[in-house]
Amino acid sequence: MTSPVRVIVVGAGNRGQNYSNFASIHPERMKVVAVADPRKFARTKLGKQHSIKDENMFEDWQCVVDREKFADAVIICTPDRIHKEPAVAFAKKGYHILLEKPMATTREDCQMIVQTCLQSGVMLSVGHVLRYDPTIHKIKELIDAGAIGDIVHIQHLEPVGFYHFAHSFVRGNWRNEAESAFSLLAKSCHDIDLIHHWAGARRCLKVSSFGSLSLFRKENKPTGAADRCLDCPIETDCPYSACKIYLDRIKAGHSGWPVSVICADSHPDVESVTRALRAGPYGRCVYACDNDVCSNQIVNMEFEGGVTAAFTMVAFTQEICQRKTSIYGSKGELSYDGQGIRVFDFLTQKSTKHSVQDDPPEEFGMGGHASADYNFISAFVSAVADSDPSHIRSGPEETLMSHLLVFEAERSRLQGRVVYCGETN
Ligand SMILES: NC(=O)c1ccc[n+]([C@@H]2O[C@H](COP(=O)([O-])OP(=O)(O)OC[C@H]3O[C@@H](n4cnc5c(N)ncnc54)[C@H](O)[C@@H]3O)[C@@H](O)[C@H]2O)c1
Repeated sequence: MTSPVRVIVVGAGNRGQNYSNFASIHPERMKVVAVADPRKFARTKLGKQHSIKDENMFEDWQCVVDREKFADAVIICTPDRIHKEPAVAFAKKGYHILLEKPMATTREDCQMIVQTCLQSGVMLSVGHVLRYDPTIHKIKELIDAGAIGDIVHIQHLEPVGFYHFAHSFVRGNWRNEAESAFSLLAKSCHDIDLIHHWAGARRCLKVSSFGSLSLFRKENKPTGAADRCLDCPIETDCPYSACKIYLDRIKAGHSGWPVSVICADSHPDVESVTRALRAGPYGRCVYACDNDVCSNQIVNMEFEGGVTAAFTMVAFTQEICQRKTSIYGSKGELSYDGQGIRVFDFLTQKSTKHSVQDDPPEEFGMGGHASADYNFISAFVSAVADSDPSHIRSGPEETLMSHLLVFEAERSRLQGRVVYCGETN
């Protein structure tokens, strides 16, 4: 294919907008030909950015599916609970699919998506973007090259970050399981996927998990605290105050995440952020929200061949999503703390550092895992352009396996017992 890959963006929020930037950077590789989003502000912004024709601006994904197929691929970035229906419908229409993670919020829906994509002969790439992070990929290459011998144990930490958790999982989109998903799925399906990937995609036999929602509960609301931070007389003593997280940032000129996502219908400035805090969900006291997802959870896994893994997700950290990993093998130990990879060889008793070139185009600007996001969309576009799914590292089968493992882990937490993976009840 020599002309650019034509994509439809379904869900023009944070993720949809950002993946679309790829078309602005590489117009010869990708063109955004349509957008669907009920929010006029988001839809129009993306429409203008990519000069989308009026007849290709839609308020809902269903209107797109109702038309004859008119693009090569669809980028689905709708909220978690609106993944399965569009994914299945677009697959049946023959569109290749980039689907944000989590694939869906039940195991049956995940299975249905994969089955439909395979039956329809379309490519599916799920937003497990960390697989495209150059350092994470280097870890996999080192393991596969035998740098630490046979893997024995993986220890992996996801420090969510204290204000990130308050933003996304107490006040924001992923706060409530009924509206989005339990936090192990919403936040840490990335991590369980990486553990499974590093363990050689072998089958997990047993899993156990514990976790709960700490602190951010109504009974912990301090005496005298108001329901909104703008009205709160003790806000200055609260590290989770919305005034500190949003208002102080915009006053200091920082309009990027998390400020960028709290004004649904306008660009952020002091006035619009104040309005959002006055009336919207992000101005609520963290002890007066309708949140219920876990703030801390651990998962223990035993894979085929006796390989074990221990995962921890915790909200109460200084660092934001700067994952830390140690992988112990028969011949050495590999560790990663965000500052490069270190491999200690038991035979030579020497450490080797491995650093990786990691510089996505500045204009892409997705913050956090920018290069992973950039490589992810780039690989998908290449896969569609070349009709070659080998560019995709987060394809249907392996992604389904790691998603199923997440559902098993949550089952263990809820039932308070070891779950034998694949058992029927
Ligand atoms: N891969 C990652 O690391 C990562 C990071 C953040 C979020 N996500 C996932 O990406 C997805 C989107 O997250 P976001 O942060 O962009 O959320 P967002 O709320 O900013 O964007 C979602 C958009 O979907 C739109 N939408 C709702 N119903 C729709 C419909 N029927 N048709 C079309 N559009 C519709 C909303 O109006 C909104 O603009 C979620 O599933 C989220 O969990 C993945």
